[in-house]
Amino acid sequence: MSDKITIAVSKGRIFDEAMPLLAQLDIVPRDDPVESRKLILETNQANIQILIIRATDVPTYVERGAAELGIAGKDVLMEYSGDGLYEPIDLGIAKCRMMLAGVKGAGPITDRPRVATKYINITRDYFANKGQQVEIIKLYGSMELGPVLGLSDWIVDLVDTGNTLKANGLETLEHIADISSRLIVNKAAMKMKPALIKPILNQLSDIIGNKE
Ligand code: ATP
Ligand code: PRP
Repeated sequence: MSDKITIAVSKGRIFDEAMPLLAQLDIVPRDDPVESRKLILETNQANIQILIIRATDVPTYVERGAAELGIAGKDVLMEYSGDGLYEPIDLGIAKCRMMLAGVKGAGPITDRPRVATKYINITRDYFANKGQQVEIIKLYGSMELGPVLGLSDWIVDLVDTGNTLKANGLETLEHIADISSRLIVNKAAMKMKPALIKPILNQLSDIIGNKE
């Protein structure tokens, strides 16, 4: 097993909020991540590299050992089904809420409600726990359009400021989960490379603890 550590991160809001945290551990990409088209960024630490992948792919890379560490939203982790991951630290970044939403002012739905979402596992579990029958419609984005165009009655999506819902005439109906990004760790790597991984976990815990 190599003595390199690969950290899988998605570009966008997680990357933007995670890089300042990693910088506090003196882990800084060599190339400008905004300019670079590289998918593997070397860092100032010779044995640490950062992998740039889609948010939903982060657990897959880490569970299968292509990356030892990753940073992923709780939404992605709740939707992912696998058990080869530790999830030791809530980094408290990319915070938002998973919500049920519908058209503002629309009354109760009499038939079996149709729910549009990209989070089909979370949605299935949520309504199963409530004992409510719904029809789930899988979408890949722009879920807000579902109720507006009559494709669905409700959506399950992430809400932060609420601006996207408001701009599309929707309102929140039920709170499903609080979301933030977590550090995830490949289980085998934790056993095989503790000398490399544990200092990173300890330092991150200290930084997060000091922020709270
Ligand atoms: P993909 O590229 O795989 O479709 P994505 O478009 O969901 O992923 P981002 O929009 O960068 O990628 O979101 C990454 C993570 O940030 C999400 O998994 C979620 O945890 C969090 N997130 C998403 N939307 C918001 C938001 N509006 N405010 C705060 N955090 C958010
Ligand atoms: C997320 C989410 C909502 C929006 C909510 O979309 O899917 O559409 O943020 O944020 P708000 O409550 O602050 O308006 P994102 O911006 O990530 O776009 P994407 O899902 O198309 O990537």
